[in-house]
Amino acid sequence: MRYLSAGPDPAVARISRIGLGTWQFGSREWGYGASYAGQEAHAIVRRALELGVTLFDTAEIYGFGRSERILGEALGEDRESAFLATKIFPVLPVAPVVEQRAVASANRLGVRRLDLYQVHQPNPLVRDGTIMRGMRALQRVGLVGEVGVSNYSLDRWRAAETALGGQVLSNQVQYSLVARSPEQDLLPFAASTGHLVIAYSPLAQGLLSGRYHRDHRPVNRVRTASALFLPENLERAGDLIATLREVADAHSATPAQVALAWTIHRPAVVAIPGASSLEQLESNAAAADIDLTDDEYQALSAASARFRPVTGPAALPRLVRARFTLAYWACNQSLGPKGRSGVR
Ligand SMILES: NC(=O)c1ccc[n+]([C@@H]2O[C@H](COP(=O)([O-])OP(=O)(O)OC[C@H]3O[C@@H](n4cnc5c(N)ncnc54)[C@H](OP(=O)(O)O)[C@@H]3O)[C@@H](O)[C@H]2O)c1
Repeated sequence: MRYLSAGPDPAVARISRIGLGTWQFGSREWGYGASYAGQEAHAIVRRALELGVTLFDTAEIYGFGRSERILGEALGEDRESAFLATKIFPVLPVAPVVEQRAVASANRLGVRRLDLYQVHQPNPLVRDGTIMRGMRALQRVGLVGEVGVSNYSLDRWRAAETALGGQVLSNQVQYSLVARSPEQDLLPFAASTGHLVIAYSPLAQGLLSGRYHRDHRPVNRVRTASALFLPENLERAGDLIATLREVADAHSATPAQVALAWTIHRPAVVAIPGASSLEQLESNAAAADIDLTDDEYQALSAASARFRPVTGPAALPRLVRARFTLAYWACNQSLGPKGRSGVR
């Protein structure tokens, strides 16, 4: 495992470059079921600790508190050695509510201190002054270590920092070979100022594993609602997946591992892939040690730039059609003699 290089803050220096995202824990929309939430999730966390993963990301909204509870229980006595990041969903972002919600998250996680407390989304109506007043109070009493934001533009990240009157350490944003807008301003800002970008969906929710194609699509709610997994887009991703495979072969690695290595190649970025199995967790953790050559990095970036998925309004009718086709297919599979196949 690799860690952020030592800076002035020792707490930050212990953050692993590959962390573990836990939206999947206890969240119905991923469809992984009760045995995943009850057993596999626990085993994934324990193995992550063994492999040197320190960064664990959750949120109060994931499974309406279930993710925080599952994560806290699985960490057990090792809670204090992890770097725990959770998020507040800012529906009513006033200071007393922020303080009360942080206490509730800490209780679910079983900790006295949240290492990183993030604002999950910018509130479109209320500016950050009120929420940051709550964050400041939480830092003062030691319940929160670092403050972070998520899905913020650079301007709003900076404004949040002014409102806090201190460093807003990180911005958690979608960043991967198929989502590169953070490169325009967030990454350079973070690298030049001692901030951090936490890359979510670094595997494009499994697309970059190369496991899915037009005749083998994931069936859970998260991905049937995503334009990326439209049959046409899976086909368009073929060139990018082929490049990932080529680089992966040179490293005796997998496309998913190379996608993660690409994501954390630039400084001041860490990635928090989710995992549906122990094997995936192990593979993801190992990706921290892959060093891409400049040529490989450029080849992957070029293949990513060539990938032009159908998105926005053009994707809508296709999404509706794809959803019905999938529902029809799943229904047939469950009624058929062999039952449903294991695609998930
Ligand atoms: N702040 C936000 O707004 C926000 C939004 C989204 C996510 N997040 C955070 O970011 C984390 C990760 O994002 P994400 O879960 O959306 O996407 P992701 O990490 O890109 O994809 C996770 C999925 O990819 C597949 N996968 C993982 N490792 C693999 C491997 N080694 N080989 C093959 N397939 C693999 C698994 O699905 P299958 O096995 O089912 O294919 C897994 O559930 C979340 O858990 C959450 O903590 C934050």
